[in-house]
Amino acid sequence: MRTRIMRHRRMVTVWMTTGSAAFLAAVALTASPSAESRLGQTSGQAAAPVAPRPADVDSFRTTIEPIFMRDRGGTMPGYAACVMCHTWQTSLRFDLETPATDAGWTAEQSRMNFEMITQLVNTGTPENSWLLLKPLEPKAGGLGHTGGTFWQSRDDPEYQTVLKWIRSLPADRYVQAPAPRVDFEFFRSCVQPVFANPREGQIKCSNCHGGGLIGFAPVPRDGRTTWNEKEAQEAFRVISRLIVAGNPVQSRFLLKPLHPDGGGSYAHNGPRRWQNRNDTEWQMLAAWVRGEKKGTSCS
Ligand code: HEC
Ligand code: HEC
Repeated sequence: MRTRIMRHRRMVTVWMTTGSAAFLAAVALTASPSAESRLGQTSGQAAAPVAPRPADVDSFRTTIEPIFMRDRGGTMPGYAACVMCHTWQTSLRFDLETPATDAGWTAEQSRMNFEMITQLVNTGTPENSWLLLKPLEPKAGGLGHTGGTFWQSRDDPEYQTVLKWIRSLPADRYVQAPAPRVDFEFFRSCVQPVFANPREGQIKCSNCHGGGLIGFAPVPRDGRTTWNEKEAQEAFRVISRLIVAGNPVQSRFLLKPLHPDGGGSYAHNGPRRWQNRNDTEWQMLAAWVRGEKKGTSCS
């Protein structure tokens, strides 16, 4: 299994670097209209971490980890095993250990996976757990997921298994702190201009992020230079998936165009707009993600 995962990883990396432009164009915009209201349920844990109950780790190992490992017959979004992408997408919270053996994770690795996964579940309102909403079809209430749709509806047996497991955890243990509201007005006035105004020697975000699943920067239609309400709302829904409200350093929007030496992602097939987090524009966007910036004033 290990060699297969390593090979798969390479394949996914190749896919990411060579096939992604086609992928961007091919996948339709699927973020759900209600995504905004649920944005960033999982910005942090309310309570101080407590040692997990061994029985919870055991049930995680026997019922949930096999779902992450399951071969789905392909390497493309919606067909690849969760482990293929989620062992190396380092800027994500959903970051599984690389399985130690063919049989899967060791008990210690499972414990680490468990601690990680509890940031993506919400035992207060289990249905709102990101672990359930990401792989779920947006029309069925899912958030939209660059890794693809795995569950067409809430009736999917895997969805049900995960939901049941989340409900089996102590209800008050893995409750996520309420996330701040990220303001749409500020997005329109101060964030969208970032997509249209490249820095010297760089190309616009809109050139590559004009449509598809990560199309947060659609080009305004009908020769307009600014976005209308509908276009802005669509863009906001897409970007909402790529930020974690309240948590700029786990927000892909703020990591992908940030230089790796300054704390950004290792890979982005586009420009590095910010050298480090001291960049005033990065600071402004981070404040917006924390819910501190509202309205139309960008300073
Ligand atoms: C082809 C690669 C790929 C596959 C396969 C994949 N994902 Fe993802 N996943 C991503 C990417 C990229 C992101 C970040 C962008 C986004 O949130 O849509 C992500 C984000 C997530 C998140 C949110 C993580 C966070 O930090 O907020 C969850 C939860 C998730 N995926 C669950 C799954 C599950 C469960 C599976 C398997 C059923 C899976 N993914 C399969 C690529 C993948
Ligand atoms: C030359 C084309 C190009 C440009 C210009 C570009 N990007 Fe990208 N971007 C990509 C590609 C391709 C991907 C998917 C593969 C990857 O993650 O690198 C991507 C991925 C991303 C992601 C992660 C999406 C996800 O679902 O995980 C974010 C966020 C992002 N870009 C932000 C930006 C921002 C902001 C700008 C403008 C400052 C920008 N990009 C400019 C090509 C580009």
